[in-house]
Order: sequence, then C-alpha cells, then structure tokens
Amino acid sequence: MSTLAPPRGPRTTDKALAARAAYVLRGNDRGSMTTAAPRLYPHMWSWDAAFISVGIARLSVPRAITELDTLLAAQWSTGMIPHIVFSDDEAGYFPGPRRWECGRLAAAGPTAVATSGICQPPVHAIAVRRIMAVARGRGRTERQAAEEFLRRSWEPLMRWHRWLAEQRDPEGTGRVTLHHGWESGMDNSPRWDGPYRRVEVGGGLPPYRRVDLTVVADPSSRPSDREYDRYLWLIEEMRRAGYDDREVRRTGSFAVEDVFTSAIFALACEALAELGDGAAERAEDVRLLRTWAARFRTGVAASVDPLTGTARDRDLRTGAWLPSQTLAGFAPLLCGGLDRPAERRLADLLDSDAWCGHPALMAAVPPSTAVDSPDFRQREYWRGPQWPVMVWLFSWAFAERGWQDRASALREEGLRLIGDGTFAEYYDPLTGEPLGSHDQSWTAATALDWLC
Ligand code: SER
Repeated sequence: MSTLAPPRGPRTTDKALAARAAYVLRGNDRGSMTTAAPRLYPHMWSWDAAFISVGIARLSVPRAITELDTLLAAQWSTGMIPHIVFSDDEAGYFPGPRRWECGRLAAAGPTAVATSGICQPPVHAIAVRRIMAVARGRGRTERQAAEEFLRRSWEPLMRWHRWLAEQRDPEGTGRVTLHHGWESGMDNSPRWDGPYRRVEVGGGLPPYRRVDLTVVADPSSRPSDREYDRYLWLIEEMRRAGYDDREVRRTGSFAVEDVFTSAIFALACEALAELGDGAAERAEDVRLLRTWAARFRTGVAASVDPLTGTARDRDLRTGAWLPSQTLAGFAPLLCGGLDRPAERRLADLLDSDAWCGHPALMAAVPPSTAVDSPDFRQREYWRGPQWPVMVWLFSWAFAERGWQDRASALREEGLRLIGDGTFAEYYDPLTGEPLGSHDQSWTAATALDWLC
C-alpha cells in the first residue's frame, strides 16, 4: 500500500465550502433531476436522489420536493423504486436504457420514463423526514409545500416499503434480499465476493463497452472487468425473467440477504411511521410500518456474529453467513435491536483503532473496509475508501438514537474529509486523496446539510 500523500489543499472556510457545495448542486441540476455526478453518472440514482434532496432542501424546499417527485414518478406498478431514472444522455453511461430495456421487457415498468430494473437501499423516508424537519423551521410557503408533498408521497412510499417487506423478504426473516450487488449501492464490496464467485457468466451475454473507465482518472479505483462481466450477466438473467419478482427470485444466480439495506429499511420504516403519527387516516399504515421496523431490527440483530459482534450478510444460494470486515458490520448501530452489552461492544469497535481510531486514517470516519482487513484496498471503490455520504447516514442515525456526541464527532471528521472542496465520490482513507468522480452531488449535499 502506498503511503505517498498527494498534495491536498487546505480546508476552506465553512462558508466557502457551503457556497461551493451549492454551486456544485446547481451545476448538476437538469431542471427536474440533479444528476448524481456531472460525467460519470449523468442520470438520477435512487439513493443518491434521496441524499441529494436533503442537501437541496437547505437551498430550496420546493426544489428538493421536485427531485423526489421525479423519482417517485418512475416507481414501478409493483411498488419498486428503480435504482436509475435515465435522463436523455444516452451515450454518457453504460448500461443505459437500451441495455436494460425495461420499457419493453418488464410488465411492471413505467412507460413515460426509462429506468433500470433493480432497486437501491430505501433511504427515501429518511430524506423526507429530514426535509420535513428543515421545512418546518421555514416560512409558510415552504412549510405548506412540504406538508402537501408528504400527503401525496405517503401512498407511493407505503407501496415501496410494502414491496420490500413482501417481495424482498417473502419468508419474513427480517432481512432484505438483493439480486444484484448494485442493489446494495456498495457495488464491489468484499461483502459480495463469495456470492459473485458463484455467478457463472452464461452463454449469450451481448458484448458491451464500459464508459466509466473513460471518465475516471484512475481506472483501478473502479470495479474490474471481471466484476463487470458478472454485473452484466445478472442483468441478462433479469431481462430473460422479464424483471418479474417471482421469476428473478427463482432464477437469479445472486440472492443475498443484505444486512445494511435491512437496517436502513428498519430505520426508514420508523422514520415514515413518525411522519404519519397523529393522522387518524394513517393509523393502520403506521402500525404496519412499526411491525416492519421491529421485524427488520430483529433480523439485523439475529445476523450478528457471536465471535466478532458484527452483523453479517447471508448468501441464500448456499445458506452461509458471510462475515466481512466492512462498514455493513455496524448495521445494528443504525437501527438498534441489540441488547446493551452487545451494542456497547459494537460501538466500542467502531471507535477502536481497528476502525475510526486507526492511526493511519486522515479523518476519523469509518472506511468502507477495515484498514487491517486482508480485503482492504485504499483506492478501490467500496473496498477501502471513505464515503462522506455514509458518514452522513451514520451521523444522522446516531443523532436520532440520542447519541449526540457520536453524531457531532462524525460530522466534524466528515467535514475534515471533504474540506478540500472537490466533493469527491470517495476518498483514499490513508492520504485523503479525492477519488472517483469530483463534484459528486451527494457529497455536496452532505456538506450543505452539515453546514447550513
Ligand atoms: N454504481 C453503479 C455504477 O457504477 C450503478 O449502480 O454504474
């Protein structure tokens, strides 16, 4: 591992950083969608859009609402919110709408807009809760716009949560099953190495050319070609299954219970329930949301490895638990569900020199993979780098749980990480070098929410 630190500018003042973050979000704004990044990701990504809307709300609540309306307008008739809503930038990204072909192949896909055929972690209700909190401190117009949005988004959000609870956890284990690593948002995390190794790329995979490698400065910070073959093969399987939930469950060669997505789901169910509290017409929905929150909290807690105290994913194709030294191990800290000694042990591990307190880190926030793990790669996408938006998520969840000191410490260190003003997608944890795309919208949004 290289220890050569590249030159890194000084941390700009908070005011200048916030101004630059706003400039980045405006630059990526296409009217009714903010692209995830200017060149690498010229479309709307589901969980990006949720985090981005939190940042935009600091500039304009109505514009934040427009962002979420655009995403919800692409919801499938099953309730699934797709992981990409495509803009008209056909050439800028692969796999684009012509590869997914959901409009032609998926009975449940929307017709008015092109989307992908998989989902991403359900952080949307968390974003809505944050936006409502911001809006309620604003003037009447913004408040009213937000309340009106909550009324009209309630039903789509309920349908989204119901789809996850029913179609992605049909056995009621309290853990969300994913059929593509991209659904986790952590594409090439070591968490998925085992399940991907068992994915055999079959015959008839149409040829393809990657676009991402022409955009990033250092291709080794992106997933490898071997990984991409498998990503594309899983899409091919889904195309052949007509993107039908039941058929994908039956035929897909990747089926993994994701403990991190499950914790987010528990947290999101609780967030939505709190937004619905007090409205008689939502009482039944709120009760259901709390049932789901409890089920998934229990499912996350049940995944904990007694040896390490960290949460594990599970490969449904082999039945095996998948231990990994990744950020996902801390999932129970997001949603709760552990007894006090187990929770304390996990929180101590997060602070320890194996994680945030590692002496080699530039900023004391968790890297995507533990520095001392044999899987750690300091520059490779989800195999080591620090992701500011993940820091935001942990910080927000800790504040919700009443752990103010922990929440503030993560915010402070997170700001140190992004203080160079590049708003990179992810950062080398040992040198602080900005990696992946610069001007990444969700990194700018994170800064705005922290600073405004
Ligand atoms: N993150 C994926 C990509 O890099 C898509 O979801 O293309």
